[in-house]
Amino acid sequence: MNQASAALVSRFGQAFSLARRLWIGFSRTLAGVMPKGLYARSLLIVIVPMVILQSAIALVFMERHWQLVTFRLSSAVTQDIGALIDIHRDFGALDPDSARLEAIARQRLNLEAEILPAGPLPPALPKPFFSLVDRAMSSEIERQIRLPFWIDTVGQSDFIEVRIDMGDAILRVVAHRGQAYASNTHIFIVWMVGTALVLIAVAILFLRNQIRPILALADAAEEFGKGREVEFRPRGAREVRRAAYAFLEMKRRIERAMDQRTTMLNGVSHDLRTILTRFKLSLALLGDEAEVEELTGDVDEMQRMLEAYLAFARGDIGEASSPSDIPVLLETLRQESERLGHETEVVYTGEPIATVRPDAFKRCLANLLNNALRYGRKIRLEGSCDQKFLLIHVDDDGPGIPPNLRENAFRPFVRLDKARNQDEGGTGLGLAIARDIARAHGGDVFLATSPLGGLRASLRVPV
Ligand SMILES: Nc1ncnc2c1ncn2[C@@H]1O[C@H](COP(=O)(O)OP(=O)(O)OP(=O)(O)O)[C@@H](O)[C@H]1O
Ligand SMILES: [Mg+2]
Repeated sequence: MNQASAALVSRFGQAFSLARRLWIGFSRTLAGVMPKGLYARSLLIVIVPMVILQSAIALVFMERHWQLVTFRLSSAVTQDIGALIDIHRDFGALDPDSARLEAIARQRLNLEAEILPAGPLPPALPKPFFSLVDRAMSSEIERQIRLPFWIDTVGQSDFIEVRIDMGDAILRVVAHRGQAYASNTHIFIVWMVGTALVLIAVAILFLRNQIRPILALADAAEEFGKGREVEFRPRGAREVRRAAYAFLEMKRRIERAMDQRTTMLNGVSHDLRTILTRFKLSLALLGDEAEVEELTGDVDEMQRMLEAYLAFARGDIGEASSPSDIPVLLETLRQESERLGHETEVVYTGEPIATVRPDAFKRCLANLLNNALRYGRKIRLEGSCDQKFLLIHVDDDGPGIPPNLRENAFRPFVRLDKARNQDEGGTGLGLAIARDIARAHGGDVFLATSPLGGLRASLRVPV
């Protein structure tokens, strides 16, 4: 008993895991075939149930109504044929050339009837694959008349021909197909398809209007992410509008936080600058001993750092995005670099115009270029733009940065090993500022090894 129940449990478990796997496979396939867009999906949600409903109705209709009507009609025609047979049997002697019978059939029953001399029936025709009328007529004749017969429902498509072997003669009857067959079914199907099309058209119009505000919200969020001006008014259904208002509120908060950061840092830097100036004045009054000179050097460095910090803090808030000619910008940078005596090459491919904040973008590239100028002799600027991204590499042939230190180099005020930074020029803010600007454009700055042997700094922003 225990063994049996254990076997049952294990079989149940197997069945369950099989069902689970099937279900997972099914849902994966479904996810693969399902359209990805909300518009297409909502349309499917409207259309699929409608098609299923209509198919079910059509099927029931075909099965029941259509079949029933066809059988009734066939039964009526068969009754008429039976009556003709009776007339022939009972009154055949009075009507030797069967003219009366034919007249009655034509005028009263709307059938073409004819009495043929006795003889064998033609060989049975192959049954058509799907013919309700053939089935209905055959079964009705078998049931009501019980005489050998021959039937042709396909020969002349608008007519049905029946021959009954009455023993002494053969009755040939030709009826209109419509008399035995519910032939106006196609009108039902036309109506069904027609209404379905109207419904789908209405659904498409409505859905499009519902989805447009969602797309507008997505566009606005994307534009904001790229640091561009956003023109956006919440519209559409309540839920969509709620999301839109939440987005606008978030945008306002982010902008306020950025404003606050700028104001605060500006304030701090300004105050420190005032004090530094006082320092310098006092030092100048102290004379020019060695210690004083050292102190003056420190104060100078502090001031330089402050200036850089101010630039960092000012950020790019307020500058509007505008379509800018990137190859022209690269050319300006090349000239500057050549002026400083560096061999510089510029390559650009793709769409030249990209929407960026021009000054900030230039500062970002200038920071990357300044590093290349400081550490390398040969410089190469390589830009490309496709549908999605604008990508600019700044390559040099300097010492480069080992991969494990690259992330560190981005941190504000971080200058890598002192041995390499002999000159006093840098504050360690260049890469931090460059990354800040790139991110404000929705992009980023990456460091890699350059084909020239030194560092490759790549700026990538979405267009
Ligand atoms: N092209 C490069 N080749 C080698 N090392 C580099 C290169 N660019 C940057 N570095 C290293 O990364 C550090 C950080 O660079 P970053 O531009 O942030 O500061 P900086 O150049 O020292 O100062 P600043 O740019 O503020 O004048 C640099 O001190 C340097 O050590
Ligand atoms: Mg730098």
